[in-house]
Amino acid sequence: MLPPSSVAKSTLHTATPALDPHSCASQSALRVRHLRLHLAVDFAQRTLAGTATWLLAEAPAGIAPGTNAELILDTRGLQIEGISLGETAAGPAAEYHLGAPDPVLGQALRIQIPAGTVAVCVAYRTVPEAAALQWLSPAQTAGEHPFLFTQSQAILARTWLPCQDSPGSRFTYEATVEVLGAERGQLLALMSAENPQATAPDGCYQFRMAQPIPAYLMALAVGRLDFAPLSGCTGIYAEPATLPQAAYEFADLEQMVAAAEQLYGPYQWERCDLLVLPAGFPFGGMENPRLTFVTPTILAGDRSLTSLVAHELAHSWSGNMVTNATWNDFWLNEGFTVYFERRIMERLYGSSYAAMLQVLGEAELRDTIVELGPESPATHLRLHLAGRDPDEGLNDIAYEKGCLLLLTLEQLVGRARLDTFIKEYFARFSFQSMDTTTFIAYLTEQLLDPEPGLAERLHLAAWIDGPGLPANAPAAHSARFDAVDTALAQLAAGTAPADLQPITTEWSSHEWVHFLQGLPPTLTAADLGALDAAFRFTASGNAEILAAWFPLALRAGHAPADAALENFLRHVGRRKFLVPLYRALLAVPGGRARAQRIYKEARPNYHSVATGTIDALLK
Ligand code: BES
Ligand code: ZN
Repeated sequence: MLPPSSVAKSTLHTATPALDPHSCASQSALRVRHLRLHLAVDFAQRTLAGTATWLLAEAPAGIAPGTNAELILDTRGLQIEGISLGETAAGPAAEYHLGAPDPVLGQALRIQIPAGTVAVCVAYRTVPEAAALQWLSPAQTAGEHPFLFTQSQAILARTWLPCQDSPGSRFTYEATVEVLGAERGQLLALMSAENPQATAPDGCYQFRMAQPIPAYLMALAVGRLDFAPLSGCTGIYAEPATLPQAAYEFADLEQMVAAAEQLYGPYQWERCDLLVLPAGFPFGGMENPRLTFVTPTILAGDRSLTSLVAHELAHSWSGNMVTNATWNDFWLNEGFTVYFERRIMERLYGSSYAAMLQVLGEAELRDTIVELGPESPATHLRLHLAGRDPDEGLNDIAYEKGCLLLLTLEQLVGRARLDTFIKEYFARFSFQSMDTTTFIAYLTEQLLDPEPGLAERLHLAAWIDGPGLPANAPAAHSARFDAVDTALAQLAAGTAPADLQPITTEWSSHEWVHFLQGLPPTLTAADLGALDAAFRFTASGNAEILAAWFPLALRAGHAPADAALENFLRHVGRRKFLVPLYRALLAVPGGRARAQRIYKEARPNYHSVATGTIDALLK
C-alpha cells in the first residue's frame, strides 16, 4: 500500500478563466468580482427591473495601467436602459455597444472602461418571455398568489442579469429585491444567498452571498412561502399547503450534511435550506448555493425519493465549490456529484439501499447509450458543445458514466485512497474552476503515477474521450433487486399478480421501479389491469412509479390510466418525466393528436427549458 498522497506536492495551477464557447464575456480582458443588484419584481408586467452594479477585478497584467479596456457581459433579451461608470446610476454615461443577437448565446454587451474605473452600473429590465424566468399564475401554485422563480443553469442567467455568464468566472454578490404592487407584503423573496425567514410587510429584502459563485448559480424565487427550521442550520421553505409534508419528507437533511462533511470535508456555505417549488419546476433539483430548489414530485410521503436532496447537497462540493470550467466539463460537476450522492445515501441508509440506486443508474446509462448510439461522441465524458445549445448537449452520460469512472478508480485503488484524493481535490481547488485536462493532470500526479501499472489498468482515455462504456467498468449488484427478479420470474411463469404479494409488501419505490422496468413488453391490457388491481399503480402518489407505469399502460392500451396520465402531464413540469411520457404517447396509434391536445393545455404550465424540448418533439 502506498501512503495517501498529499496536496502540498501538487504543482498544478488552474489557468486564468478558460475560453468558454458559450460566453462572449469569457473573451473579456476585464473581469467582474462583485455584484450589487437592485431589482423590482413586477407580477403585473412580468418583469424584473433595476440596476446591476459590477465592481471590477484588477486589470490583468496584459493591460498597461492607464490604458482603456473593454468589459464584455453576456445578455439575452435584456432591455438595457443605460450604463454609467462608477458605483451608482448617477455616474458619467459609459460608451457601450450590443452585439448581433444569437438565438442561443444572446448578445455581447461591450462597455468601454476608461483607466481608473472601479465599477459600472447597468440599468435594465427583463422581458416577460425571459427564458430563465417562470412566472406562475395563482392557479399554477398550491395557493392563491402568483409565483416567480429562476432557473439559470446552464446559460440562462444572462436572460435576467447582464453578467459574465461562464462557469469559469466567479463573483460575490449582494442584492436588494422589492416586490411591487398588490403582492407587496404578501410574498417572500429568496435567493442563492443569506435569506430572510419571514415575509416583510414593506416587500423589501436584502441578500448577501459572501462566497464567490459562477453566474449559473444566481437564483431568485418570489412567492407565498413559509419557513420551517429542521435544525440549527437547515430548514425548508415551501408554500403553506406543502410545508408540513415537505418538513416530514426532508427530516434527515441535517444528517445528510453531517455525512457529507465526514466524507469530504467542511460544508462551506453556512446554511443549507431547501425550497420546494410549485410543480412546474423543470428539474428534479437545482443546487443553488445555500438554497437548493427542488420539485414537489419528490414529496412521496415516505421519504423514498430523498437521494435527490443528497445529490443537490453533494454539489455544494462538486460543482459549487469546484466548478466545471465550461459546459464541456459538465461531467466534473455531475459525475462526482452522483458518486458522492450515493456515498451519502450509503452512510444514512446502508449499502443495500445505495446498491439499488446504483443499479437503477446503470440501467439508465445503458438506455442512454443505446439512444445516443454506442459510438456517438455524445457518450464521451469530455464534450465538444461549441456552436450548440448546452441545454441540448448535456445528458445522463456525465452523471452515470462519470460516477462509474470514480467507481472504477475505487476498485483499483481502494476506497480509503480514493476518498483522500477526492477530499484533497475539493480542498485544493475550492472556489476555483476545473477543466478536464487539468483534472487528468491532477489525477495522474496524485493517484496514478505513484502506483506503477495503474494508469494502464484505468484506461482513462477510453473513459474521457471514448464512446460508450469502457470494458473495465464494474457492474453493480443489488440483493434487494434479486427478490424483485424472483417475483418477475414467478409472474412470467404464470403466477397471478395478487399472489405475489407476500414478497412485495416490504418493497420501496426503488424495488417497484425495477419491477416495472423488468416487465415484458408483450403484456396485454388485461395483464396490466390485473397488476393495477393488485398493486394500485395508477393511484400511486410516487412520481417515479407513475413515470415508469404510464408508458406500459399506454403501450398496452390500459385505459384506466389515461386520466391519471393526463392529470400528471398537466401539472408536472419536470422535463425528465415529460419527455419519455410524450414520447410514449407518440408511439401509440392516434397518439400524436392526443399528445398535441394535452400539450396545448399543459404548455403554459411548463418552463422554457421544458417547452424548448417538447416543442421540438411534437412539432
Ligand atoms: N444541476 C442539475 C440540474 C441541471 C443540469 C440544470 C444541467 C440545468 C442544466 C441538478 O443537480 C440535477 O442534476 N438534477 C437532477 C436530479 C439528480 C438527482 C440527477 C434532475 O433535475 O433530475
Ligand atoms: Zn446534479
